[in-house]
Amino acid sequence: MTALNILVTNSLADRHIKAIKTVAPHSTIISCNVQQVAEHIADTDILLTWGTMDLQPLFLTAPKLKWVHALSAGVEKLIFPEIKSANTPLTNSKGIHGIPVSEHVLAMMLAFTRGLNFFIRQQTQKQWKRVTVEEIYGKTIGIVGLGSIGREIAKKAKGMGMQVVASKQTMTSELFLDKLYAPDQLHELLAISDFVVIALPLVEETKHLFTIKEFAAMKPSAYFINIARDAVIKHDDLVTALQQGLIKGAGLDVFDHEPLPETSPLWDMQNVIITPHLAALSPHYLDRAIKLFADNLSRFIQHKELLNLIDKDKGY
Ligand code: OXD
Repeated sequence: MTALNILVTNSLADRHIKAIKTVAPHSTIISCNVQQVAEHIADTDILLTWGTMDLQPLFLTAPKLKWVHALSAGVEKLIFPEIKSANTPLTNSKGIHGIPVSEHVLAMMLAFTRGLNFFIRQQTQKQWKRVTVEEIYGKTIGIVGLGSIGREIAKKAKGMGMQVVASKQTMTSELFLDKLYAPDQLHELLAISDFVVIALPLVEETKHLFTIKEFAAMKPSAYFINIARDAVIKHDDLVTALQQGLIKGAGLDVFDHEPLPETSPLWDMQNVIITPHLAALSPHYLDRAIKLFADNLSRFIQHKELLNLIDKDKGY
């Protein structure tokens, strides 16, 4: 029987521990916060952590480490030269984000369409003022990146009667899409979209994909929604695009500096909805993440290929 030391940088409920123990009954599960990882890492066989954890300084002090699994989809801080040259596999929680993230995107699109960004602010002032409200029906959504999250957004958008277009690296036949664009046709997608939604992983090729040129290619009446990573865009260019009216508004869940600094001009923009990086969260998140991990743990123990294996060179 395999006795594994599993370190988790999150608190776990009894049902989560039970799910892991069902697969690996002789394992020891330690749950701690990120600051406490240094105390335990030397004895750790498997590390379960978030993609934002700075693992690099500790990696060489973890001689037993056999596998790193991200509780998140993003793994940006878990890829560094030492882990790249080691055999340690890195996996992520891709596949469990579609439902909450697509609901978050829908909530942002509906909020803008029905003016909630204005009305919630005006309610705090006890004001009764109408602004023009619209229908989401018939509007075009352009989804940049069509992985499991993008596909779930497409499905829900189609259900709302929207025109759905997307861009994707490889051409595949897709349900719910009216048109699929190649990455080099991005500006064509931007020119026709009423909502542009970023659903791409952050990797070398997607870093700063959106500059002032891309915002200028959008309709001035269009909204920009980012539930991926801030570094996919040039943040200051987005601020400029909003200040200059190149786009109508933005729904933003992710920021390079989290929490978003108080000095950011975005806070005071009425046409911006800011949420604190929780598009994927719901009461079901950890249940789904642990189920995925437990399935993968069973594969690990049986020396089968792991699910959601990250290609460390590609970054996803
Ligand atoms: C993730 C996220 O990467 O929620 O999982 O941002």
